[in-house]
Amino acid sequence: KHLFFLLLLLSTLSLSGETWGMVSACPIHCVCRNLSEALSTLCADKGLLFVPQNVDRRTVELRLADNFITEVGGIDFVNMSGLVDLTLSRNTIHLIRPMTFGDLESLRSLHLDGNRLTILGPRDLTGLVNLQHLIINNNQLVKVSVQAFDDFLLTLEDLDMSYNNLRRVPWESIQNMASLHTLNLDHNLIDHIAEGVFGELYKLARLDMTSNRLRTLPPDPLFTGAISPTPYNTIISLNFGGNPLHCNCELLWLRRLIRGDDMETCATPPHLAARYFWSIPEEEFTCEPPLITRHTHKLWVLEGQRATLKCRAIGDPEPVIHWVSPDDRIVANSSRTSSFSNGTLDILVTVARDDGAYTCIAINAAGEATATVDLKIIPLPHRGGGDSIGSAAMVFLSAQIM
Ligand SMILES: *[C@@H]1O[C@H](CO)[C@@H](O)[C@H](O)[C@H]1NC(C)=O
Ligand SMILES: *[C@@H]1O[C@H](CO)[C@@H](O)[C@H](O)[C@H]1NC(C)=O
Ligand SMILES: *[C@@H]1O[C@H](CO)[C@@H](O)[C@H](O)[C@H]1NC(C)=O
Ligand SMILES: *[C@@H]1O[C@H](CO)[C@@H](O)[C@H](O)[C@H]1NC(C)=O
Repeated sequence: KHLFFLLLLLSTLSLSGETWGMVSACPIHCVCRNLSEALSTLCADKGLLFVPQNVDRRTVELRLADNFITEVGGIDFVNMSGLVDLTLSRNTIHLIRPMTFGDLESLRSLHLDGNRLTILGPRDLTGLVNLQHLIINNNQLVKVSVQAFDDFLLTLEDLDMSYNNLRRVPWESIQNMASLHTLNLDHNLIDHIAEGVFGELYKLARLDMTSNRLRTLPPDPLFTGAISPTPYNTIISLNFGGNPLHCNCELLWLRRLIRGDDMETCATPPHLAARYFWSIPEEEFTCEPPLITRHTHKLWVLEGQRATLKCRAIGDPEPVIHWVSPDDRIVANSSRTSSFSNGTLDILVTVARDDGAYTCIAINAAGEATATVDLKIIPLPHRGGGDSIGSAAMVFLSAQIM
C-alpha cells in the first residue's frame, strides 16, 4: 500500500514536474498529491497525536482521520483559506479551541464524527462561511451553543449530530438553515421539538429523529404536507421510530396523515402501549380535560407574611396551571410572587391589596377547569393605633385549608 502511494507520488511528481522542494513540505508519513492543480494532504491512519504543523497552507483537501489527535486549535489550520475538505473523523478530539477554523472560508465539508466532543461552544465553528456538510455524529455532545452555527446558517445542506447525548438542540438556529437538505438527530435524548421549526426549511428532504425521547410532536407544515412539494423535497423521508410517543389527542393530527409505511409505536397511555401508531383508530387518540383535585379554599395571612396558594389538577395532557389575581390579571413571576408549574402560587411578602379572590385555571388541549381561593390579608396594626392586641390574636387564626 505504501509502495503504491510512493509510486503514485513519484509519478505525480514526474507528471506535474514538481520540484523536490514541494515534497519536503509534505508532513512526514503523509502523502501529498497535486492532481488537477489541487493539493491533497493525506495523513489518515498515521498514528498522529496532533495536526502536523508543516501542512502546505495551499492544500485543498486535508485528511486526518483515524489518528489520535486530542485537540485542535492554535495554528493548526491557520491560513488554509483554500481548504475545501477537512476530515478529522475517528480521532480522540475532546477540545476545539475557539476560532480554530477561523481562516477556512472555502471549507465545504467538515467531518468530526467519532470523536469525544462534549460541547460545541459559540465560537468553535466561527469562520466557516461556506460550510455545506457538518458531520459530527458519534461524539458525546451534551450541549450545542445557539451561536455555534451562525456563520453557515444559509449554506449548510447536511447536518449530522446523530449518536450523541443531546437533550436539546438549538432549534432557533436550525429553523433558519434555509438550504438544509438532510438533518440527522437520531439516537440522542431529545424530548422536545419546537413548534414550527421546519416551516421554512423548503429544501429539507430527510429528517431522522429515530430513538430519542419525544413524547409528542408539534403540528408542522412539513409533516402535514401543507408545504407544496418543491423541486427539492418531492420525497420527504421522516423517521420518528423509537420514541416514547404518548398517543393522545395531541397526536391526532399526525394520525390523520395518510402514511403507514413507518414503524412508530405508542409508549403511553398504557392501553395503547406497544401498538403500531398507524393501526390505532383515530377515536382512540383521546385526551382528558383538566380536573382540579385539590386546592386551597381559604387562607388568612398577616400582612407582610408569606402566602402560599395551592392548586392541583389532573388531565391528559398534563394541565398547565395559571393564577388570576383579584383584579383579573394573570399572575406572572416577580420579585414578590412566584407562580410554579405545579400549581403553587407563592406571595413572599403580602400587602393589603393582595386581599381578594384568586382563580386557579388548569388548561390542557381538551379544556379547562377553575377553582377559587380566598386570600384574606389581616392588616398590621398601624403605628400608634390602639388595636394591636386584636390583630396579634388573629395571627393564631391564620390557617390554611386544603
Ligand atoms: C500544483 O501544480 C500546479 C501545476 O500543475 C502548480 O501551478 C501549483 O502551484 C501546484 N500546487 C502546489 C500546492 O504545489
Ligand atoms: C499566515 O499568514 C500570515 C500572513 O501572510 C503570516 O504572517 C503567518 O506566518 C502565516 N502563518 C502560518 C502558520 O502559516
Ligand atoms: C416562575 O418561575 C419558576 C421557577 O423560578 C418557573 O418554574 C415558572 O414556570 C415561572 N412561572 C411563570 C408563570 O413564568
Ligand atoms: C411546587 O414547586 C415549588 C418549586 O419547585 C416547591 O417549592 C413547592 O413545594 C411545590 N409545591 C408542591 C405542593 O409540591
